[in-house]
Amino acid sequence: MFLKNLFKRTAEKIELHDIQAIILRERPLPYHGVNVFLEIQDGPSGKVFLKELLPYITSAQNWWDSDDAWLSVAFTYEGLKKLELPAATLQSFPDAFKEGMAARGQKLMDINENAPEKWEAAFKDSGNHIAVSIVAKSKAELDAKKQVALRILSNHAGIKLRIQADFDTPIEGNFNHFGFRDGISNPEIEGSGAERLNKKERPIKAGEFILGYANETGNKYPMPQPLVLAKNGTFVIFRKYHSHVAVFNKYLRDQAKTKDEQEMIAAKMVGRWRSGAPLNMCPFKDNPALGADTAKNNDFDFASDQNGKIVPYSSHMRRMNPRDTKMAVMSDVNLHRIIRKGVGYGVPLAEGSTKDDGVERGLYFIAFSAKAMETLEFLQKEWVNNGNFVSLKNERDPMIGLNEGKGTFTMPSDPLPKRFIGMPTFNTLKGGMYLFMPGINALKWMCGVSPSAIMPTRPNY
Ligand code: HEM
Repeated sequence: MFLKNLFKRTAEKIELHDIQAIILRERPLPYHGVNVFLEIQDGPSGKVFLKELLPYITSAQNWWDSDDAWLSVAFTYEGLKKLELPAATLQSFPDAFKEGMAARGQKLMDINENAPEKWEAAFKDSGNHIAVSIVAKSKAELDAKKQVALRILSNHAGIKLRIQADFDTPIEGNFNHFGFRDGISNPEIEGSGAERLNKKERPIKAGEFILGYANETGNKYPMPQPLVLAKNGTFVIFRKYHSHVAVFNKYLRDQAKTKDEQEMIAAKMVGRWRSGAPLNMCPFKDNPALGADTAKNNDFDFASDQNGKIVPYSSHMRRMNPRDTKMAVMSDVNLHRIIRKGVGYGVPLAEGSTKDDGVERGLYFIAFSAKAMETLEFLQKEWVNNGNFVSLKNERDPMIGLNEGKGTFTMPSDPLPKRFIGMPTFNTLKGGMYLFMPGINALKWMCGVSPSAIMPTRPNY
């Protein structure tokens, strides 16, 4: 029902049957899932494992109205090396992908408390080779698919399970741990077979997200070689954030006299009320019905709020997608879009609590782009941890900026802007990696199956 409200069917143009489901499908609500990271200890075993997993990998065919469980698979550069891809192929990947996210820490502003040296041990080394992700609408469906993957894994002594991270919708209704509805805004992709019902943003060329298609400039982004490997693939950003919900609640409480004031500051920091209702469509009071209405809650631009008086330039949502904002440092917004498919982990903190209960909770931030490494470096340096592009000097994103107790947040208001100071980092980085998610034909090529071979698909078992 949710999916059918969000999309209108259009002619199919891109090769959906060859693209992995996770890139285009919406998560079911509620969702249940697992992210698994594997180490390939011997290459030939890796190829056989992949070949056995292939029939269970789900494509994006009919993504707008499919809600059966899906399984996807992606590889780090170290993983591709372990799979013994040809040297010329390995060589053809972008440098940032080859180096990996941890090695690019300085370029990503992943420093101080977000520095790779502070990450969880399992993300610090180069032992994560294959990522398998399963998402399902019920625990039973998840368990069934998980059993299949674990059974295949158990046949291969040369593949080691390193991380098995289960996740669920943190708070019923697709709310994240801070209590905000999440996963609302994603770009519409031209030719992807369905049109979003949000009319204010034009569709983005498929080549921005999927390799082998024209991008916004009319060209194709550089692709790993050969074409059979690259076509219909994409790059993945994976970042594990630990959310400091009690710290956020306390910060709000310390800045405001009333609950309404707290809610207003929180909404200004995100750009939406907790319900998901966009601030510029209801500037003074939350409108939960609008927040829940998938046909309306992303149907806006900033034309009537060019000075950022309603939706602060510094809010997370406006920084991450300035839409039609006239920026001090010019940039084509549509060259920096990503498809977001993040999922929450951990049990929620008691609502409104300002006392940390010591439980780990947060977000596995997962995003896709044909030039994911370049885009993340741009976002982190220019739009998350800098304010120059909107004349806010060194002010940083209030939700994901590295604020470390020194952060400021400017909230335009009459007669003078309010400036909040001493902001902590509300989300710290605990690990991350870049992955390559090949198309389904490419997976066949990687494990030595002829691309023309028809693999039986087994969505139900
Ligand atoms: C724990 C970390 C994060 C939290 C709690 C968070 C929270 C949110 C929320 C509540 C929204 C508004 C709802 C929506 O449109 O889906 C949003 C939007 C968005 N976020 Fe995040 N986010 C996090 C990390 C990130 C990161 C790391 C990036 C990119 C580097 C990012 C990029 C975006 C984008 C592109 C949007 C959509 C903006 C739009 O199109 O209007 N977020 N986020």
